[in-house]
Amino acid sequence: MSAEPLMDLPQLRTPCVMVIFGIDGDLAKRKLIPAVYNLMAGHFLPEGFAIVGLDRPEMTTAEFREKLDRVMGDYLPATVDRSVWQALSERVHYLAGDFQEGATYRRLNELLQQVDASAGTRGNYIFYMATIPGLFGQIVTHLGEYGLTVERESAWRRVVIEKPFGHDLESARALNHELQRVLHERQIYRIDHYLGKETVQNILVFRFANGIFEPVWNRQYIDHVQITVAESLGVEHRGRYYEQAGALRDMVPNHLLQLLCFLAMEPPNSFAADAVRDEKAKVLRGVVPLSSLDVLRFVAFGQYGPGTSDGKAVMGYRSEPHVASESMTETYMAMKLFIDNWRWAGVPFYLRTGKRMTRRLTEIVVQFKRAPFMLFRKTQVDRLVPNVLVIRIQPDEGISLRFDAKVPGPTVRVGTVDMDFQYADYFGNAPHTGYETLLHDAMAGDATLFQRADNIELGWAVVQTILDVWKSLPGPAAFPNYPSGSWGPPEAEALLKREGREWWNGGQA
Ligand SMILES: NC(=O)c1ccc[n+]([C@@H]2O[C@H](COP(=O)([O-])OP(=O)(O)OC[C@H]3O[C@@H](n4cnc5c(N)ncnc54)[C@H](OP(=O)(O)O)[C@@H]3O)[C@@H](O)[C@H]2O)c1
Repeated sequence: MSAEPLMDLPQLRTPCVMVIFGIDGDLAKRKLIPAVYNLMAGHFLPEGFAIVGLDRPEMTTAEFREKLDRVMGDYLPATVDRSVWQALSERVHYLAGDFQEGATYRRLNELLQQVDASAGTRGNYIFYMATIPGLFGQIVTHLGEYGLTVERESAWRRVVIEKPFGHDLESARALNHELQRVLHERQIYRIDHYLGKETVQNILVFRFANGIFEPVWNRQYIDHVQITVAESLGVEHRGRYYEQAGALRDMVPNHLLQLLCFLAMEPPNSFAADAVRDEKAKVLRGVVPLSSLDVLRFVAFGQYGPGTSDGKAVMGYRSEPHVASESMTETYMAMKLFIDNWRWAGVPFYLRTGKRMTRRLTEIVVQFKRAPFMLFRKTQVDRLVPNVLVIRIQPDEGISLRFDAKVPGPTVRVGTVDMDFQYADYFGNAPHTGYETLLHDAMAGDATLFQRADNIELGWAVVQTILDVWKSLPGPAAFPNYPSGSWGPPEAEALLKREGREWWNGGQA
């Protein structure tokens, strides 16, 4: 058994500054700074490295470092190495300013030149948009106006764009257009933090490094696929954002379709960024467009009502802060789609995501077709359970395969058994936020795990009809239609049941 650390990345050689727009915000504190800390603790960062953070509150760099020191205890790993944290904190510079004002960028330019001189970062900058999505385009335009996006022979400039990337197909196209007026596509890193998860990356290794699965990875052997991203939490403090977004926009064009692409794509010629992204684009192009009627038949929406979560009574969505009392925003969505290509024609893919579900669970379930049954006639075996391969992404990352085995005894009876691999048993559990690999890759200039402009637009194209139909439905659906702590509304159960299937639900009824 090997006990390699979970993160195994090469040390970066090229120095750089990570410029964080929104360093005083939630994402920076909860994910980005802890991820940079983990990279530094693991000696993955280059010698010349600094952070320049921008946000609204007036503070000096010294005051901001003090503030970080006070608040970061809640977010850094419990085993924090104080000397590493101290070294990182000394590399953080703060600039107060409004992202919508030109003066902020003039001062940023000056500060970056000072940092280059003191930290030896040689003009290599990665600009991270950790702020409200409505500002992404404007910030990049300003960066362009102040010459901050121009690459020189010895200095690169990259921009990381957080999610959500637009709120429909048209706005995603407009944002791509706005970014591409200033940046080359190779400078744009559209992040989907799901792709920072080891298990998601492992889908590709699992499929393409093992000889035994690929031959059965097609419509001849696979009955159907389920992709579930279930959260046990409610909307929490994000009511304002969520009212505008809903489950479909928030989860499907990005996370769920990314998982679908990794599961369904053809082997790329290499792991070069464009080779992988070309194959992902082909999957999305192959998704059969839903007609309005299909949306009514094959898509189920839900909104959670009151119920229980972890044994405690919890309120319904409409009672959450910043949520309208008659809100029609969906907190749950399930759909069936098909991919029209040689490999997948006729195989249903069921996708679902929801809040306040029975438990937190992200998994892909590949259910194989049943074995022919003749051999067991005249025995006590009346029903064979199909083989099921489960790729668990969270929690307890791992892979398991369910198959039938003979129950010991004089008669032929069949029992179901699981062959189970847990990531933590083999590779340990180094602390990580899920952003380490992605930040490292962006600094290394490897865009394989980031989304290209066409991938984003193709993702939105898949959900656009659903958005249109959902918006044009006359009467409100009977929301709320599932209690907190359940697996979702009855319509979603029916979606599979009428085809003789059922949701896997982590292997539990
Ligand atoms: N939080 C997460 O866990 C998470 C996870 C995945 C993706 N994301 C994405 O990451 C991005 C940031 O999310 P977040 O949760 O960190 O948001 P947030 O907590 O609101 O942080 C954004 C920061 O930007 C500042 N800001 C906004 N407008 C500004 C302006 N005009 N000038 C200067 N500063 C300004 C905000 O200051 P004020 O508060 O003063 O406005 C705030 O400090 C979003 O795109 C989100 O979808 C977040």
